[in-house]
Amino acid sequence: MRLSEILVKYRTRALRLFFGHELLDASKCAKIKDNRMFSGLSVRPVKAGDLDAIMRIERASFGSDAYDRKLFADFTHICGGLFLVASKGDKVIGYSITCIRGDRAELVSIAVAPQQRRRGAAGALMDSTLRRLRRRGVTRFVLMVKVTNERALGFYEKYGFRKNRRVSRYYEDGSDGFLFVKVL
Ligand SMILES: CC(C)(COP(=O)(O)OP(=O)(O)OC[C@H]1O[C@@H](n2cnc3c(N)ncnc32)[C@H](O)[C@@H]1OP(=O)(O)O)[C@@H](O)C(=O)NCCC(=O)NCCS
Repeated sequence: MRLSEILVKYRTRALRLFFGHELLDASKCAKIKDNRMFSGLSVRPVKAGDLDAIMRIERASFGSDAYDRKLFADFTHICGGLFLVASKGDKVIGYSITCIRGDRAELVSIAVAPQQRRRGAAGALMDSTLRRLRRRGVTRFVLMVKVTNERALGFYEKYGFRKNRRVSRYYEDGSDGFLFVKVL
């Protein structure tokens, strides 16, 4: 599937990376230790063998809005180096996907297994992503979030993202989204 098809089909959270508002309007993280530890937690790039665990996290987190396996496989190619997983031992407990275009990046999705939340996993993923983005010279990091997603709003605000604007009926279910921006 081509990126443009992915973005049309999965508009809900895939964001309009190359055609979307923010990036289109404006034109829509020293060597990194991939296994840096965060109290037993490590963050590393995704591997093919992680997809089963990622699918479980995805379904538990997004229900009917969950991405399918094929899309995750596509993202490993499209956004390879910034498709990260958080793990405890051998167990994958969260993932994040970020795609870069030029000096801009977009957080495509992030989720942590429900029973593992509020223990810093998403924060570890975000910290690692931010280091990688800075190393690559990215200066602007954007994302879209449903206006009703209180957990995610709290998380992004903690990490210094600022609300840029409300986008009416951005999501397939008719919900509005907030465009958040962080200047790096
Ligand atoms: C949003 C999400 C990824 C956060 O993951 P997490 O591992 O629980 O987050 P962390 O433990 O790293 O939390 C870091 C900070 O984010 C904020 N935060 C996290 N969960 C929050 C919540 N339920 N309410 C308010 N703030 C929250 C807090 O500031 C928290 O710091 P604190 O625990 O010291 O107060 C997780 O709740 C999730 O997977 N949600 C479902 C998927 C989703 O909505 N993804 C975002 C799509 S846009």
